[in-house]
Amino acid sequence: MSVRDLLRVHGKPTREVYLDNENSGWVPKEVVEAMLPYFNSIGYGHPSITNRPGWEAFEVLEETSELIAETLRGDKEDVNFVHSGTEANNLAIVGSAKANRGKGRKIIVSDIEHYSVLLPAISLEELGFKVVRAPVDERGFVLADVLSELVDRETLLVSVGMVNHEIGTIQRMRELVETVKDRNPNAIFHTDACDAYARVPIDLSRLDVDMLTLSSHKILGPKGAAVLYVREVEVQPILRGALSSQTLWPGVENVPAIAGFRKAIELAFNDLEEKVERMASLRDFLIDSITSSVSDCMLNGPSGRERAPDNVNISFLRVEGEALTVELSMRGVYVSSGSACTSRILEPSHVMLAIGRKHEEAHGSLLLKLTRYHELEEMRYVSEQVRESVERLRSISPL
Ligand SMILES: Cc1ncc(COP(=O)(O)O)c(C=O)c1O
Repeated sequence: MSVRDLLRVHGKPTREVYLDNENSGWVPKEVVEAMLPYFNSIGYGHPSITNRPGWEAFEVLEETSELIAETLRGDKEDVNFVHSGTEANNLAIVGSAKANRGKGRKIIVSDIEHYSVLLPAISLEELGFKVVRAPVDERGFVLADVLSELVDRETLLVSVGMVNHEIGTIQRMRELVETVKDRNPNAIFHTDACDAYARVPIDLSRLDVDMLTLSSHKILGPKGAAVLYVREVEVQPILRGALSSQTLWPGVENVPAIAGFRKAIELAFNDLEEKVERMASLRDFLIDSITSSVSDCMLNGPSGRERAPDNVNISFLRVEGEALTVELSMRGVYVSSGSACTSRILEPSHVMLAIGRKHEEAHGSLLLKLTRYHELEEMRYVSEQVRESVERLRSISPL
């Protein structure tokens, strides 16, 4: 059945709760309003051209860089705009490896990285680089002593995501970065912070990473804007072209999206701690109510302060995750199963397998990502719908 048929057959539910914010989603109205002038009123020019609409566009890049630097306790000169987290990660991995190829051939990535880190790293094997995947423990932590064993003088680059996109593990970043730099001070450290930004504290004045990735739509900003933060490390552009006000990514910046990203950052960082506490309490309510009312299910990833405040990931035995997402969608609860990026390919998520889940446990997993805008009442509804859906699917399952 095509997607068009699905939309036609399944009418719009009367009640809807969107919990697929891992993959993308809903944008607050203030963010949309902040973008609108940049389509046709101000700053619609090219930010690297010297005319008024161009200067106005350039000003958006400047102000957003300043704001990002302030929130990271970093330097605005290190902010480079690209259009997606995928672009930023590809630039970080391929661009730094190519620019520093004389300094070593070994690239270490954690076993649970997002595909936009893993796949560019693997692609470098064709050029003679050696990719080593650092294992994680059963809750998704990269352990410092394990990493220490892997880092040697040949190590050019290490990439470990700050918060895992599927199971919400918050890595002990300072310990990992210090371990790597102790073993090899020349090794470059990249972290994908797409799922950490505006949810866990990031203080670059105390964290010695060389590159860091952010993506606008991961913090309720629009799609089409992202950042690769690059400190003093050499990075070679991976696309060729002209007319960018920046040196690492050719082509015109998406100024309306960057203006929206700026507004999304302002909203998220206003009373951030309170928002994080609120999300964490909704998360814990959802985890407790689902795991206590549904039999044979298990939480994937750590709990409490070691888990991202917005992440819930639960495996249900004897249920197919894809079927569960469809059943829930008909009830107006929008979630994803396994890894979103692989959800149209029925492969078990590499993250689940890396933490030791069996294939059927990985296939039966549900990923729910909430936001500060959700209400407790919605979590009650979701928990109830999950319980009923799992029971219904189990009752008709040949398993
Ligand atoms: C941790 C992480 N890194 C990178 C990406 C890719 O970002 P984008 O969708 O902006 O390409 C995602 C997307 O969900 C992500 O969760």
